[in-house]
Amino acid sequence: MTDPKTDRVTIPGLWEKKSAGERITVLTAYDFPTARILDEAGIDVLLVGDSLGMVVLGYENTLPVTMEDMIHHTKAVARAARRALVVGDMPYFSFHLTKEETIANASRFIKEAGAQAVKIEGASRKRLGLVESLVEAEIPVMGHVGLTPQSIARLGRFRVQGAEAEAARRVLDEARNLERVGAFAVVLESVPRELAKVITAELRVPTIGIGAGPHCDGQVLVFHDLVGYSDGYLPKFVKKYADLQGVIRRAVEAYAADVRKGVFPGDAQSYHMKPGALASLRSRRGRTRRV
Ligand code: KIV
Repeated sequence: MTDPKTDRVTIPGLWEKKSAGERITVLTAYDFPTARILDEAGIDVLLVGDSLGMVVLGYENTLPVTMEDMIHHTKAVARAARRALVVGDMPYFSFHLTKEETIANASRFIKEAGAQAVKIEGASRKRLGLVESLVEAEIPVMGHVGLTPQSIARLGRFRVQGAEAEAARRVLDEARNLERVGAFAVVLESVPRELAKVITAELRVPTIGIGAGPHCDGQVLVFHDLVGYSDGYLPKFVKKYADLQGVIRRAVEAYAADVRKGVFPGDAQSYHMKPGALASLRSRRGRTRRV
């Protein structure tokens, strides 16, 4: 649902969707042209995820991504979004020091980059305090529990979280706590579908699943995975709707072959001089460089 005056997706609009049983669509976006397509296609939320470190900047994980990277890409996405809600992902170590630094970093997404909200991974006691402070400072926060990729050093590898009862209880508590301190939605990443169903039924705010089964209030995927434009391993939960890598590779190979054969550019891609201009140029060639 959108604000009827501006036609923009709003946070209360997302809550209404949950109440109405209408699914919320979320995709990651990192640049202007892609964000424009996703916005025009009616995607509700554009998440400028720190996954950009892996799918756009070529890092092995999300840890090296900086605030400057995130602000730069969020600005491009926000410039493109006419309807979608834009959420900026707070990168590793942008919310791990003091409360004041966290608020200052989060506010940059809103004031400088044009996002409407931020996302923060995790729900430790300290993290919950930070979320509360951000909400108090009028910065809407999307929570993120289950698999939190910024915890890769502690987790060892990306794997399902909450398959055992005790771990499931922990994820459920974290989601509940995020709602209690004011998160407007909670991402559930790589959790069993049964657990996501329980959390979705318990929470008043929407759950947005990625690798969390079909019962969440909304779904998010990394755009590059969805369109087949990412490199290497794809998690089980990804459904590839296109083969953009193949399309691009074939186009580039055809271009290179045309250049090598001298058939690109052809006449259709070339400019022409005005009638008589070439003859006049040639008649003066003693005074000018030979053409
Ligand atoms: O960084 C990201 O893209 C994310 C989503 C996968 C939820 O956090």
